[in-house]
Parts: sequence; C-alpha cells; structure tokens
Amino acid sequence: MNTLFIVLTLLIPIFLLLTKGRRSPKRVPPGSLGIPIVGHSLHLLRAMRANTAEKWLQQRIQIYGPISKLSLFGKPTVFIHGKDANKFVFTSDSSTLSNSQPQSVKKLLGDRCLLELSGQDHKRVRDALGLFLKPESLKSYVGKMDEEVRMHIAMHWEGKQEVKVLPLMKTLTFNIICALLFGIERGARREKLVDWFQEMMEGMWSIPINLPFTRYNRSLQASASIRNMTKDLIGEKRMELAKKGVNPHKDLISCMLSTRDENNREVINENEIMDNVMLVMTAGHDTSSILITCPNFS
Ligand SMILES: *[C@@H]1O[C@H](CO)[C@@H](O)[C@H](O)[C@H]1NC(C)=O
Ligand SMILES: *[C@@H]1O[C@H](CO)[C@@H](O)[C@H](O)[C@H]1NC(C)=O
Repeated sequence: MNTLFIVLTLLIPIFLLLTKGRRSPKRVPPGSLGIPIVGHSLHLLRAMRANTAEKWLQQRIQIYGPISKLSLFGKPTVFIHGKDANKFVFTSDSSTLSNSQPQSVKKLLGDRCLLELSGQDHKRVRDALGLFLKPESLKSYVGKMDEEVRMHIAMHWEGKQEVKVLPLMKTLTFNIICALLFGIERGARREKLVDWFQEMMEGMWSIPINLPFTRYNRSLQASASIRNMTKDLIGEKRMELAKKGVNPHKDLISCMLSTRDENNREVINENEIMDNVMLVMTAGHDTSSILITCPNFS
C-alpha cells in the first residue's frame, strides 16, 4: 500500500506543466524551490532510502496544504495531493496537463519511448508492444519463465539456511526480463547487461548533474552501453528473422522488428525499439521484484 502510494504520488502527478502567461506571483503555490538544481531531491531521496517518503510527503501537506511547489531532480515541481488532485490529473486533457518525464530521465530512456510519444506515433508503438503481450504470445513465455525460476531456485535457494529475498527477486526478475525482452541467454553478455542496468537505475533517482564521476554521469554511460548492445541485438534478430520458421514473437525485439506495414517495411525504427526496450525493462524491474517480495502487498 505504502509503496503504491509513493509511486503514484511521485510518478504521475508531480510534473504539472503550468500554462504560460499565468505567471503572476499570486498564482504560484506555497513552498520554496530550495537550492538551485539540488532543490529537495536529496531530502526526498534520503527519505526514500529510509522508507519514510510517505511521512515526508505528509509533513509537506501539513505545512503547505495539499498544493505546494518544490524542486525535484533539477525541475520546479508542483506537488498535489488528495481526491480533487487525482481527479484533475486523471481527467485533464493534454492541453492542460501533459505526460512527460523529467529531462534527466528522458536522457536515460530516450525520447522515443511510449511515455514521450503522442498521437499516431503513440498508437503505432503501442500496437507493436500490444502484439508482444497478446494472450497467445504470453502462453509461450510461461515456459521460459518457468525455466528461469527453476534455475534461480537451484542456484540461489537450495541448501541455504537464510536468504535475502529482495535482492534475489531483483536478480530473478532481471533474468526473466533478459530472456523475454532481449532473448539473451545466460552468460557473459547477460551479466554485463545486469551491471549496466543497475548502474543506470541508480542514476535515475539522483541529482542530474552530468560531470565526470557523478552518479548521473555513470548512469548515462551505462545507458549508452545498453543501447549499444541493443543495437547489436537488433542486427542479430533481424538476420534470424530473415530465416524461415523463426517465431517472430519469441522476444520483444523480434516482435517489434516483425511488425510490418502493407509494403512489408518495418514500422518501428531502431531508436524506437531501443527506447521502448529500455522503458519496459525499467518499468518491469523494481515493481515486479517488490511485488513478489511483499506477501501483504495490496
Ligand atoms: C561524463 O562527463 C564528461 C565530462 O563532463 C563528459 O565528457 C561525458 O560526455 C559525460 N558522459 C556522458 C555519458 O554524458
Ligand atoms: C559497442 O559494442 C561493440 C561490440 O559489440 C564494441 O566493440 C564497441 O566498442 C561498443 N561501443 C561503445 C561506444 O560502447
């Protein structure tokens, strides 16, 4: 429950784009923007690490009321809370409120992922992702997942007196993601990908300063490496698909590559494949591993 609350309050409503021209100081919500760039990010990150983010947000609400401004991850942000706020977020059209990730996240995930696209482009990519998630296709993934789970249990659980569940669930979900999204078998390549991915995720919740040796800089580098590997994989999958008898839905990359228009041309370009693979990987990782770790999650 708490986790869900935090994810919803953080990810959906905060990036509220106030329309320009209404910038009279009277209409700006209470609250300070804090130190430039850093803003309140450190406070929030500290609270998240200590698992007290909900309390931190409640305190804000006590001080400033349900609407306040602050600065997160390098951007002025409006925090809104409550029933009316939810209604506003979920019923506004794109002229009032648009869905957009912070610039820092956009740089990591790319600007052609589903979260950034609109209109026809959005539909085209969403349809291709939908093919991957069709019930008929899902059936064929069960076998692969089963194989990964068995191998995981044999490797990390059997014969152990005590195990730390959350990190192991992260490993397991990542391995399943690798198998289903990338079609990468176990081995050196997958391990490299795990390292890069973890590096990238760390920078997603960090202060977005791109200087040598900052966490965000390492995160950008990791993102570039993942892209580079995905590019190679796209080439390999394309060659594989050219052979007859290959199942075009066996992983997400193959599935997107084999989405064709009436002239048999690829519908989703390489950048879109890369960005959306990154998106699905990120979206699937933390949520699923937390979900299967918490028995009382509701
Ligand atoms: C990391 O920082 C250095 C120095 O500012 C910069 O040259 C490099 O491009 C950055 N890395 C990435 C991936 O942006
Ligand atoms: C991209 O991957 C290839 C190997 O597949 C490697 O030779 C090359 O150095 C990589 N480039 C970058 C920028 O990481």
